[in-house]
Amino acid sequence: MSERIEWVKNSMLEEFGKGASIKLLSLEEVNKARDFHRTIPDYRPTPLRSLPNLAKALGVGGIYIKDESYRFGLNAFKALGASYSMAHYLAQQLGQDIRELPYSVLTSAKVKKALGEITFASTTDGNHGRAVAWTARQLQQKAVIYMPKGSSPRRLENIRAEGAEASITDLNYDDAVRMTAAEAEKHGWVIVQDTAWEGYEEIPGWIMQGYGTMAAEALDELKAQGVEKPTHVLVQAGVGALAGTVQGYYASVLGKDRPKTVIVEANKADCHFQSALAGDGSPRVVSGDMNTIMAGLACGEPNILGWNILKDYSEMFVSCPDWVTAKGMRLLGNPLGDDPRVISGESGAVTAGFLWHLLHDQNLQEAKQALQLDETSQVLLFSTEGDTDPEKYRSIVWDGEFPSFAR
Ligand SMILES: Cc1ncc(COP(=O)(O)O)c(C=O)c1O
Repeated sequence: MSERIEWVKNSMLEEFGKGASIKLLSLEEVNKARDFHRTIPDYRPTPLRSLPNLAKALGVGGIYIKDESYRFGLNAFKALGASYSMAHYLAQQLGQDIRELPYSVLTSAKVKKALGEITFASTTDGNHGRAVAWTARQLQQKAVIYMPKGSSPRRLENIRAEGAEASITDLNYDDAVRMTAAEAEKHGWVIVQDTAWEGYEEIPGWIMQGYGTMAAEALDELKAQGVEKPTHVLVQAGVGALAGTVQGYYASVLGKDRPKTVIVEANKADCHFQSALAGDGSPRVVSGDMNTIMAGLACGEPNILGWNILKDYSEMFVSCPDWVTAKGMRLLGNPLGDDPRVISGESGAVTAGFLWHLLHDQNLQEAKQALQLDETSQVLLFSTEGDTDPEKYRSIVWDGEFPSFAR
């Protein structure tokens, strides 16, 4: 496995208007999700931080990073998807439109009585499962959560603290997803999985629409800071639901003016990068333990809803070793001048680490040029989690675990 950053320009990019349907992530659909989120008492947009000193040092017009560590007190963006998809599922069971079912109604004793006991099941690296457990608790329903081999005990405890039955399996992420689906079938549980496969697309579609709230907030916040739109977006991918959402929503609302989007992965689980290298449009699978510190990105099989969008609309795919995200964590936690500090975890910081090297390293000049990055560029990133494993965070940021690769 290379210790270097690898990149490939997307040869499958489609002319605008000829790509896959992005109706799932239209303004109307994302507004529906956003309106639902607004009914949750703890909802407020997470901050979009501007890093002008970093931008100046790297020679771009602006760098903005959405800090999802503030999301619902859960330290990650994931509850946007879990809450909206589970609410949508309940609305469907009740035969009602989600727009008629604000949070206060869905969490009422009357709705609980009408629906009876439901068990939601999921596989998770930590963040999604915690979000499913958090939502189930508020709906007074049950959650059963399975985690892949090597998952962080701290993240397991966070899920149990939300009242879910949770355990760490001896399977990798993708095999744990299959096992969860089989268990759910056996027990009559409802699977709330943040990835889609042939025949399982409805709930993952709602999850993506839920993530749309984050993408929509970022555009509004950029405008409030005087930036009409980002010219470039760097977004990390595990199964690619998040990246597919960001890409699909911005293509929906900005059309031909959409930003150039770069999909960034952990090199131990770089299924989108491998699919882009193959370049024939069909997704490739990465298997094995996918042993990376970027736990949220340790997924070897692309979400088909996300992949269909990414292959037609995204500009570039990048595969990063662990030291890249470690660099991003340190860089965001120790900002230049009076730039604000962002506490970003292992799956949150890889785009920041990559951006630094993209704009700084001689051997990435060609990638920088391919993306037409210059002093007029406005770059948007998403720090999708805070220090969800605080011991690991300190071991990287304080003790220097995963030092930058000597070039
Ligand atoms: C913090 C964090 N960032 C990014 C991702 C990647 O999202 P996706 O799997 O939709 O690509 C995850 C997924 O679990 C995550 O937990």
